[in-house]
Amino acid sequence: MRKINIFDTTLRDGEQSAGVNLNFSEKIEIAYQLERLGVDIMEAGFPAASKGDFNSVQEIARRIKNSSVTGLARAVKGDIDAAWDALKDGAQPRLHTFIATSPIHREYKLKMTKEQVVERAVAMVKYASERFPIVQWSAEDASRTELDYLAEIVEAVIQAGAKVINIPDTVGYATPIEYGNIFRYLCENVPSIDKVSLSSHCHDDLGMATANSLAAIEGGATQVEGTINGIGERAGNAALEEVAVALRIRQDYYQAQTRLTLNEIKRTSDLVSRLTAMTVPPNKAVIGANAYAHESGIHQDGVLKEKTTYEIISPELVGVSSNSLVLGKHSGRHAFKERLQELNFQVSEEEMNRLFVQFKELADKKKQMTDEDLVALVLEEKATD
Ligand code: KIV
Ligand code: ZN
Repeated sequence: MRKINIFDTTLRDGEQSAGVNLNFSEKIEIAYQLERLGVDIMEAGFPAASKGDFNSVQEIARRIKNSSVTGLARAVKGDIDAAWDALKDGAQPRLHTFIATSPIHREYKLKMTKEQVVERAVAMVKYASERFPIVQWSAEDASRTELDYLAEIVEAVIQAGAKVINIPDTVGYATPIEYGNIFRYLCENVPSIDKVSLSSHCHDDLGMATANSLAAIEGGATQVEGTINGIGERAGNAALEEVAVALRIRQDYYQAQTRLTLNEIKRTSDLVSRLTAMTVPPNKAVIGANAYAHESGIHQDGVLKEKTTYEIISPELVGVSSNSLVLGKHSGRHAFKERLQELNFQVSEEEMNRLFVQFKELADKKKQMTDEDLVALVLEEKATD
């Protein structure tokens, strides 16, 4: 079984979600919960970005002992110095430095040649390695970079001291097969690749961030970056809870595992959602309110007979207390009867026949039937009996 390291960037890329601004104590609260969840690395912020970011990264590095705390730095000495000052008291300090490598970023953003980008990346990785025991280097917009050039710059930064190489799909452009193939290409064409850990970092612009992260693992990645609930720039980042649960449920296929305590997922998701004020859509995979809810009669009947008929993830696995059969117009007699029993009602077969007809009539007019609706129906039936 391959070990996959989980790199959480909820507090950095996640906080870059439009409209999100976490304060100092909210960041500390999230950091403690991420440690409880068992993330291997947490990116606590971008120390050079603001005094507030610097202070929260420093405090998180000082307090968190069971995850490695990192901070982001552009390929400039000032950013690396700020990150060192913020992170040096941490248990396992590491730096995350990046520079863009794609033609579009080189030409329009950096106004640098290929050679200048290599030179800057190498110089800054060397500079950072004099301080930090672990330096992660990222090729921003890697998925839109010429493959031979990407391989060349990756080899150069490994020689300069980088220990982790991150290959971001910065704008969420790659397809799973393309993204997995970048990792395969690097494994085959970078001479020193065995000395480092390869990492994926996916954005969800085309809704492929989770699939791309899993494709990267198949291609040779041993680290996956993402955020809780998939929050982040634009359409967000890969949702870590989805990647981790996919690896667990399809362990037979991926032959890989994380060290996350999966039953802390719901608690972590709720906390991040509450503090960022970003609501989780009900149909969101793994942690949405409907992820374990079965509405149609055929599905409810199947689940009552044997859960695995329509439920591939047990809610308890991710810390959700139990599955819920949502009663509505598609529900069958079996689920209706089960719920009445749970509500401690004894009804005869004859009462049941009448109640089920009334239930269907009412459900036709309402989106969802609540327990109060059922209680009212039964009490009325008993009263007129
Ligand atoms: O998406 C991206 O390229 C990033 C880098 C800074 C790693 O977030
Ligand atoms: Zn990103």
